[in-house]
Amino acid sequence: MSMKRTHHCAQLTPADLGASVTLSGWVDSVRDHGGIVFIDLRDRKGITQVKFDPQDNAELGVQAGHLKPESVISIAGKVVPRPEGTVNATLPTGGIEIAANALEVLNVSDTPPFPLDDIGGDKVNEDLRLTYRYLDLRRPKMRKNLQVRHRAAKSIRDYFDSQEFIEVETPALFKSTPEGAREYLVPSRIHAGQFYALSQSPQQFKQILMVAGVEKYFQIARCFRDEDLRSDRQMEFTQVDVEASFIDREGIYSLFEGMLKKVWKDVLGHDLPTPFPRMPYIDAMNRYGVDKPDVRFGMELVDFTELFKNSAFKVFASTATGGGAIKAINAKGLADLTQGEIKALEEIAKSLGAKGLAFIKVEGGEWKSPIVKFFSDAEKAALTAQLGLAEGDMLFFAAAPWEKACAILGRIRLEAAALLQKRGKLTIRADDWQFLWVVDFPLMSYDEAENRYVATHHPFTAPVAEDASYLDTDPKKVRGQHYDVVLNGMELGGGSIRIHQPALQKKVFEDVLKIPADVVESRFGYMLKAFTYGAPPHGGIAFGLDRMVALLCGTTSIRDVIAFPKTQKGQDLMAQSPTPVTAKQLKELHIATVMPE
Ligand code: AMO
Ligand code: AMP
Repeated sequence: MSMKRTHHCAQLTPADLGASVTLSGWVDSVRDHGGIVFIDLRDRKGITQVKFDPQDNAELGVQAGHLKPESVISIAGKVVPRPEGTVNATLPTGGIEIAANALEVLNVSDTPPFPLDDIGGDKVNEDLRLTYRYLDLRRPKMRKNLQVRHRAAKSIRDYFDSQEFIEVETPALFKSTPEGAREYLVPSRIHAGQFYALSQSPQQFKQILMVAGVEKYFQIARCFRDEDLRSDRQMEFTQVDVEASFIDREGIYSLFEGMLKKVWKDVLGHDLPTPFPRMPYIDAMNRYGVDKPDVRFGMELVDFTELFKNSAFKVFASTATGGGAIKAINAKGLADLTQGEIKALEEIAKSLGAKGLAFIKVEGGEWKSPIVKFFSDAEKAALTAQLGLAEGDMLFFAAAPWEKACAILGRIRLEAAALLQKRGKLTIRADDWQFLWVVDFPLMSYDEAENRYVATHHPFTAPVAEDASYLDTDPKKVRGQHYDVVLNGMELGGGSIRIHQPALQKKVFEDVLKIPADVVESRFGYMLKAFTYGAPPHGGIAFGLDRMVALLCGTTSIRDVIAFPKTQKGQDLMAQSPTPVTAKQLKELHIATVMPE
């Protein structure tokens, strides 16, 4: 029998009845129905049922009955109709089966350490799945995730090609420019004591490509950041990275909306409405408590700083008069929270720096709360009116410096929404695609620990022209030409119009960010020099391909859409890295290790 297949395992239908075929793949399951053996044969496309009838070939039937799941086989046979009552309408191949007349075992499989169906596989520990990733990836769901990733990447490439962008590869081995996340360093063998850094993003190269006259660049680029890993963060991840010359913010918005529209259409068949709404950073913070708001549900933050300035509740009064903010949310229908659930929310608030998490339950027509005794009638009336309080509601307060108060309640809002969902009182659909642009970020924020300004996005971001005069006097006031694209509470991407004038870039580095001139020269000197040779105005954006594909696949973890991800602890459990290396290797690299105490 030739191993060459005539068809794949999702192909044959009643239209092929009578055909002689050869199929190859994995044994998905073996069932013995009183001597007749049924094998579900699986390949990358799907499943076909194969029948071994001892009346046709007794020896073959016995052999098939002994096949172990996940073994690799080829079969040959005839396409026959399934007997009445055994038709499976849910499968494309559910109307037929193959009456086998030949079987070749290409490889026998050991028993897999976990079930390879979607439901069974989801129940096992992720570490086990990652250790046997090649088995995990055989699961239909994981296979689909890889296919969606491919579709999305292809759609993106086609889109940028149609817009006359060209894909240019940039180095992974770059130089250390520690202005962003922590870098991975790579020792140089040839230059003792010197290091490359793995590229955190192609940011500087793509700007140089603009100086080089490329005008329209994109790249599906691997990036490396030594960050604490989370469900939406990996140490190596993929960006769709874009830069264009002679473009303004509006140009970037419509370019990117066009791309996302195409991807959603190509991958999901869904028509995304464009343009996306835009929300200034300050509104996102005030209304949702974060710069990446999930606007699929309300429960917006309401500010009561003025109201509580003269309150008898001293915690609120002193915060309000001391320059802080009092914010509240109404979690409608959540008055049935248990003591334990309230305690857990309070712990979350405290982990974000809250002193406490004041609440009011509206239950049995009464306000139940340890602090309600301090509230005047006017305060109660204002809360009721502005929060639309009703029976069964649950109110939470944060009193803290503005940014912290926003962050605390922003997080409590998400937690409360999850609790409401669990109770069936709120529906948030994963396929309710609420894109928005968050705009008008401050260019700089003050880093108390470092006692200097730091760039909110990165130091190459251009100030909004009419704010530029504040760079010398009050950098906080300067808005950046920076934008983020947010989808359902996740930051998908971000970018900016860049500084293209060398003098302004140098001023931002040295006068605003207070990077010493010699350090600026050694890190960014080449870039400042390039800009003196006719740098065009330019801008761009990058967004997380892993995050986008995760949302397209309906999963919350980007590990599910990366073939070989690292664990939260940065390990590859399958190949087992990182590992120690030999003394000889270290010596060649001029490296000595010092183990922690
Ligand atoms: P930024 O640092 O905002 O911008 O990154 C862009 C997008 O990349 C994704 N991302 C990540 N995804 C997975 N794991 C990570 N560790 C990780 N870090 C970032 C996010 C994020 O929105 N050069 C600029 C862009 C520009 O200005 O053009 C940049 O890298 O989805
Ligand atoms: P206390 O008077 O400190 O016992 O606080 C009374 C209630 O207010 C408790 O439920 C605290 O959790 C809460 N609380 C205290 N400080 C704050 C704050 N800064 N923001 C919000 N709630 C607070």
